[in-house]
Amino acid sequence: MKKVITYGTFDLFHQGHLNILSRARKLGDYLIVGVTTEHFDEMRGKVNVIDSTLERIENVRKTGLADEIIIEDHEGQKIEDIQKYNIDIFTVGSDWMGTFDYLNNFCQVIYLERTPDISSTMLRKSRFQIINVGIVGTGRMAPRFLEEDKYVSGIHIVCAYNPERESGDLFREKYEIPVYHEEYQQFLDHVDAVYIASPNETHYGYAKQALQAGKHVLSENPVAMSKCDVEELYDLAEEKNLVLLEGIKTAYCPGFQQLLNTAQSGKIGEIKDVEACFTRLADVESRERTDAEFGGAFLEYAAYTLLPIFKLLGTQYKKVEIYSILDEKGMDLYTKIQLIYEQGMATAKCGVGVKSEGQLVIAGTNGYVLAESPWWLTRKYMVRYENPNVIDVFEPKFQGDGLRYEISEFASKINGLERNTYKLTKEEIVAMSEITEIFMEKRKKK
Ligand code: CTP
Repeated sequence: MKKVITYGTFDLFHQGHLNILSRARKLGDYLIVGVTTEHFDEMRGKVNVIDSTLERIENVRKTGLADEIIIEDHEGQKIEDIQKYNIDIFTVGSDWMGTFDYLNNFCQVIYLERTPDISSTMLRKSRFQIINVGIVGTGRMAPRFLEEDKYVSGIHIVCAYNPERESGDLFREKYEIPVYHEEYQQFLDHVDAVYIASPNETHYGYAKQALQAGKHVLSENPVAMSKCDVEELYDLAEEKNLVLLEGIKTAYCPGFQQLLNTAQSGKIGEIKDVEACFTRLADVESRERTDAEFGGAFLEYAAYTLLPIFKLLGTQYKKVEIYSILDEKGMDLYTKIQLIYEQGMATAKCGVGVKSEGQLVIAGTNGYVLAESPWWLTRKYMVRYENPNVIDVFEPKFQGDGLRYEISEFASKINGLERNTYKLTKEEIVAMSEITEIFMEKRKKK
């Protein structure tokens, strides 16, 4: 019996898929089809697959062409499968020409001609309207957004806004995107959604006006400085059925989600302590070091360090204390936040003028999770135990600078029915704003 194997995502099942399965079936007597899992697709950078793994399997099954369906969930699996299932022929479409030649050592490799003019990517694009996005602020973050949005289908950047004419003009020249200066409302009229990457203190005003105008908002953190303002924005978004997402990039990284799952899987027992540290020395001339009102370590990085704490221990802490090392202007060079919970405790540390080991340690009753710098991108983490010889290492894939995962979440929430994301909830953002409020009160007093 000649056994054939083929693989694919088979998202939004289409004629091209049907054709390749039927041709693959004809190559032998028994066809095995490997369908990728969501996690595997995410890891290899296919970030906006629409159908769930089960739906995609069901669609392959309904063709009646597969004798057996298996799941593909990790790199290197093809070689394993070919040996395990005693495969004679491996086949895929001609778009993969050459990529799988290395499998010739294990079986025959055949590239079948791809059906022209159809693909899941095309269908995903035609299924949803293009989301026209405007960028507010043309500073450091805007070019990164422009770079990363290319990897998310359906997002189109149409214009930018910056009240400062000079820097706006430079941006327009370099990226060839129209930039509005005074007319924020006019800018809003041209977009379906905004990405807010302006200075911290302006996020709230821009976000509120955008939501009032019926536009979806993705804002750099913090979207507002007080709990009451944050709640107001979320209520407004809910009332208008709009997406409001805060840009704490780590929250959307697949590796970080995996780390949270590992920590909560029981492997390390009950979680008792979370320690997160993020420091990045800023130039003494930079905004982070010169803006006594809205600069400093806390406003830059506290949200990143509070994120794993709220995710793992919840937002219902019993007590919070904030300590800072200030410069002569009263701005925090280094801040430590200590949280006490009923069942545990946590420390968040951040710095722009003091350098420390940027790591995340999640301590449990059986062991601990350790993610070294840059844990906020989560490319690697390990689980360690009392026995120092036992170490489980995890190395999730991470693509680009990670912004694409955040943009992809934004697009999928705009296109989907569910407006909220479990990856970063309103409750978590509100809890962060509560702590921001305490910090800002202290700063005002000084
Ligand atoms: N395929 C094909 N003809 C097409 C589209 C896909 O023969 N027009 C084949 C691919 O070469 C692959 C299999 O179908 O062997 C599954 O491909 P998959 O990546 O799931 O489909 P695409 O439509 O190419 O998806 P995407 O646009 O997301 O890359």
